[in-house]
Order: sequence, then C-alpha cells, then structure tokens
Amino acid sequence: MRQEIASVTANTELMPQVHLMWLESPQIASIAQPGHFVMVRCGEGLEYQLRRPFSIHQVDKTKVKLALLFTVVGKGTHWLSQCRVGDNIDLLGPLGNGYSIHPGSQNLLLVAGGIGIAPLVFLAQQALSQGQSVTLLLGTSTATQLYPEHLLPSEVKLIIATEDGTAGKKGLITDLLPDFTGWADQIFACGPTSMYQTIVAQNQQKSKPVQISLEVRMGCGLGVCYGCTVKTKSGLRQVCKDGPIFDLGDILWGELDL
Ligand SMILES: Cc1cc2nc3c(=O)[nH]c(=O)nc-3n(C[C@H](O)[C@H](O)[C@H](O)COP(=O)(O)OP(=O)(O)OC[C@H]3O[C@@H](n4cnc5c(N)ncnc54)[C@H](O)[C@@H]3O)c2cc1C
Ligand code: FES
Repeated sequence: MRQEIASVTANTELMPQVHLMWLESPQIASIAQPGHFVMVRCGEGLEYQLRRPFSIHQVDKTKVKLALLFTVVGKGTHWLSQCRVGDNIDLLGPLGNGYSIHPGSQNLLLVAGGIGIAPLVFLAQQALSQGQSVTLLLGTSTATQLYPEHLLPSEVKLIIATEDGTAGKKGLITDLLPDFTGWADQIFACGPTSMYQTIVAQNQQKSKPVQISLEVRMGCGLGVCYGCTVKTKSGLRQVCKDGPIFDLGDILWGELDL
C-alpha cells in the first residue's frame, strides 16, 4: 500500500452526476489489480481527514494513470467533481483483496448495477487480455445513466436492462441473469445490496461461483477502526482488509446492517 499525491489529468461528467476522473498515480497504478480500491482525501482541512473509498475503475496501458468513476452523493464526491486538470489529490492504495479469476475459467459473466460498473471494466480488460470471454449485464434506472458503450472494450458482449424500459430490456438486470448462468464459469457482480440479495434469492450462487464487491461505510480503509466489520460464515471479517470482494454465499445477508 502506498500514499501518493496524484495529479488530475481529466475529470468529465460522463452521465448526470457521474464523473470519470483520470489521475497520474504511477506508484499505485503499477501494482493495482481489478477489485482493488483507493482511499481518497476529498478536500482540505480537518473536516476532510476521513478519506472516502473508491474502486479503481481502470489503469492505462502504461500503468502510469488510474481512473475513478464516481457518483456525486455528498460533500466529498462534490469536492472531487470540482477538481480540475493539474489539481493534486492524496490517495492511499491499492487496498483490498481484488477479484480472483479461477484457473480454467473461460466464460466470465459480469453483472453491474448502476455505478457498480466501476470495478468491472478493469476486470473485463484483464480477462480479455488473458483470452477469456466476457459478457456484461448492465442495469440502470434509465438510459441516461448507462455507461457509454464506446468506453468498454469492443470484445465485451453487452446486455442492457433499464427499470423504465428506455434502453435494453425493461426491468432489473437480475431478471436476465438466469439466461446467462449456464454459459458462465464464474460470475462477478457489483451493485447495491438489494441486487446481491436478489441473486441469493435466485439461488444462482449454488450453481456457479459468484464474487461480489461489498460496499459499506469505511472509517480508515486500513483494518484499524473495525468500522467495516461484517458477519460471514467463517466469522467476523473487515471489508477493507478481507474484502471488499467476497464469495456471495459467505456473507450472512440476514445479519448485514448497512
Ligand atoms: C470498497 C468501496 C468502493 C467504492 N467504490 C466506489 C466507486 O467506484 N464509485 C462510487 O461512486 N462510489 C464508490 N463507493 C462509495 C463511495 O465511497 C461513497 O459514495 C463516498 O464515500 C461518499 O462520500 P461523500 O463525502 O460524497 O458522501 P457523504 O457525505 O459521506 O454521504 C452522502 C451519502 O452517501 C452515503 N454513503 C457514503 N459512503 C457510503 C458507502 N461507502 N456506501 C454506501 N453509501 C455511502 C451516505 O449514507 C449518505 O447518504 C465505494 C465504497 C466502498 C466501500
Ligand atoms: S474501515 Fe477501518 S477497519 Fe475497515
């Protein structure tokens, strides 16, 4: 884990309230893996001491720059959205355990709910570079919230669902999951807790292994404050250190207090 002052090289509003930010951060980018996250100091002064966690969305080919994809939901993300090219941002990372592609897995099914696309693009890039096939199920509330297709690797097979039916199939992305489970060797999901609970209810995890990225409030991101502790079948686990990637079936969903 490294602390690095990263320089903003681009910050664009891709979808309403969703920003794609590129940062020159060679120390972190050079060792980052899909599923890792960074703790970002989102402002100056005492009130911004508490860093905010963000998934590493992508790393460029030279491994000098990394990207974050974030939704503006509060003070910290608002501050980030206002940063300009050349501004410096204090990062800690890479943190967490990362996704794990099993040896022998050829067909990877990625399931993204809304901003849950953030860590999955990096995973898709890595899988494709290793010769694996990737299908991405992407669900949002409406068409304007969809991640632009031209920013995805062209080899990804993209399937879309929107809740209001303005693009792709009308409904939740999990409605489409059963159609693809048979094809997949492994499933990787990132989205709201309700999406994970639906997958549990659909029983998909019994037929195919499902890895999820768990989003909880984090104090330190370093395994120090215990603020991110969750109950799993193998005991208490810290999301920042033991996660954020977990096997779906390991989490005691009924006891999750988010
Ligand atoms: C491992 C990890 C990876 C993440 N990756 C991304 C990402 O790639 N892109 C992205 O947009 N967001 C991501 N998040 C969520 C992100 O950290 C929060 O949105 C951010 O901390 C909000 O900061 P804020 O100061 O703007 O909001 P605050 O003012 O702190 O809070 C505003 C609202 O957001 C809610 N909120 C704050 N933090 C979280 C959280 N961790 N989980 C759920 N709700 C929260 C609060 O309850 C409140 O309603 C990730 C979280 C984790 C734990
Ligand atoms: S956020 Fe502090 S221990 Fe995980």
